[in-house]
Amino acid sequence: MSATADDTRPADRTLVFAHVSDVHVLDLVGVSMSRFLNKRLSGLLNLASKRRNAHPVAILEAIVDDVIARPVDHVLLTGDLTNLALPTEFRRARAVLDPIARPDRLSVVPGNHDIYTRGAARDRRFESFFGDLMWTGADSAQTYPWYKRVGPVHLVGLCSAEPRLPLIATGRVGDRQLQRLTALASTHDLHGEFTIAMVHHNLHARGLRKDLMHGMQDRARVLDACAEAGVDLLLHGHTHVANRFRHGSMRVVGSGSSTWDAEHPDHRARYNRYHVGPAGLERIEVCIWDGPDRGFVTSELPEDPPS
Ligand SMILES: [Fe+2]
Ligand SMILES: [Fe+2]
Repeated sequence: MSATADDTRPADRTLVFAHVSDVHVLDLVGVSMSRFLNKRLSGLLNLASKRRNAHPVAILEAIVDDVIARPVDHVLLTGDLTNLALPTEFRRARAVLDPIARPDRLSVVPGNHDIYTRGAARDRRFESFFGDLMWTGADSAQTYPWYKRVGPVHLVGLCSAEPRLPLIATGRVGDRQLQRLTALASTHDLHGEFTIAMVHHNLHARGLRKDLMHGMQDRARVLDACAEAGVDLLLHGHTHVANRFRHGSMRVVGSGSSTWDAEHPDHRARYNRYHVGPAGLERIEVCIWDGPDRGFVTSELPEDPPS
């Protein structure tokens, strides 16, 4: 049973979900150099060369302010909260998210940067900082996919992140999670109401090299399993550029990075707002960062491009 099982938001009004991803909070203060004698060495070099100032924490703070000032019913964060899965980074990410860090307001899944090393996976470091937003009360098994409700809407969180060798950022959901997803579909009748699933890795092809180095290895199976389970809207991160397509009647949306502060119009920091009414997904808005003075500029996205 989740903390939102007693969520009494009515089924006859439109709910708004914010989709935030790949915020990559960096915090190396006080971190011993011995922490970098593993896969993090390549990550540290990457940070030093190009990423150090690429994802300002101030933009994540502005997102938290924005979803409070222009209220949403729930915030969905699709992974890569950190860069190197360091305790300092998790602590800072949690502190920035603190105003909305309640299981009935915020849901998360881990990204490959949150389970960056074997030690982070062994210690279940991501889960130790954010598990209270995924599992509560009787759901003590703490397995993926987690399940919640927001009013009439079902939420499911899959984990695609596993530790990999340096320079490899592939992911995989795996058979066990897909079997559990099928069981959840039956237990909670996911076909009966609108269902949103969250996972970190992208679900579209990006070319052979990127797919081999960075892709989700069981992408096709995950797409089919989610569609068969009754998922209406499948959200992901990982690719820092936004993407959308349809898989049958299921909508698949990558928000792009919510804190990537780059000049190119496709690379501007952004997050999405999904309006879900009694008849399903009514519209998607994109909120693009336009600097501290203008904040987030919101516009409605056109229909999905043809697949
Ligand atoms: Fe990322
Ligand atoms: Fe990622």
